[in-house]
Amino acid sequence: MTETATDIPHLTVVTHPLVQHKLTIMREKDTSTKSFRQLLREISQLLAYEATRNLPMTAKRIETPLVEMDAPVLDGKKLALISILRAGNGLLDGVLELVPAARVGFVGLYRDEVTLQPVQYYFKVPTELEDRLVIAVDPMLATGNSSVAAIDLLKEAGAKNIRFMSLLASPEGVGRMKEAHPDVPIITAALDEGLTDKGYIIPGLGDAGDRMFGTK
Ligand code: URA
Repeated sequence: MTETATDIPHLTVVTHPLVQHKLTIMREKDTSTKSFRQLLREISQLLAYEATRNLPMTAKRIETPLVEMDAPVLDGKKLALISILRAGNGLLDGVLELVPAARVGFVGLYRDEVTLQPVQYYFKVPTELEDRLVIAVDPMLATGNSSVAAIDLLKEAGAKNIRFMSLLASPEGVGRMKEAHPDVPIITAALDEGLTDKGYIIPGLGDAGDRMFGTK
């Protein structure tokens, strides 16, 4: 996997050609809902490959058809994947295919259209969050307001080891996350130029939720 650690220490941009090619198709305004959803699922798995790097490993004694060996297996408690609703679900599905035993939680936040501030309407997360690697997923790290609020809630619930995975990030969102949660690494497919006055990422891809679910 080609990845760029960037000069921002907690930010990793996954520059793999497959990720970048798929992302370009997703950005195009005429890409269908079906293709958008499928591409998001595919990219989520490539991002998850990077986000799950350095998971703790242990050895397990196994028998192959030929010999016994100490073989590597994942150590510790199952991962917790947290979808920041609703657009997070588009990333969640693909990651779950890759890590099917993961525990899953949901944080429901919507963005007030006027203040752009997050409003919580749902919160349900796995038990023993403090002992798990927690990967929070939201395709668009835009103003950073909802991401910061979601991470606040996860920390209040006990999470200590959190990573944040998005499809696109803005410099404003990355800065806001770094300020509020410098301990949370961000894994994304692209760092875009900025935000519109309505808080959309530019050049971006529009409203990720609407594009993946075919709503307006
Ligand atoms: N949420 C989206 O879906 N798109 C953006 O550009 C910003 C926030």
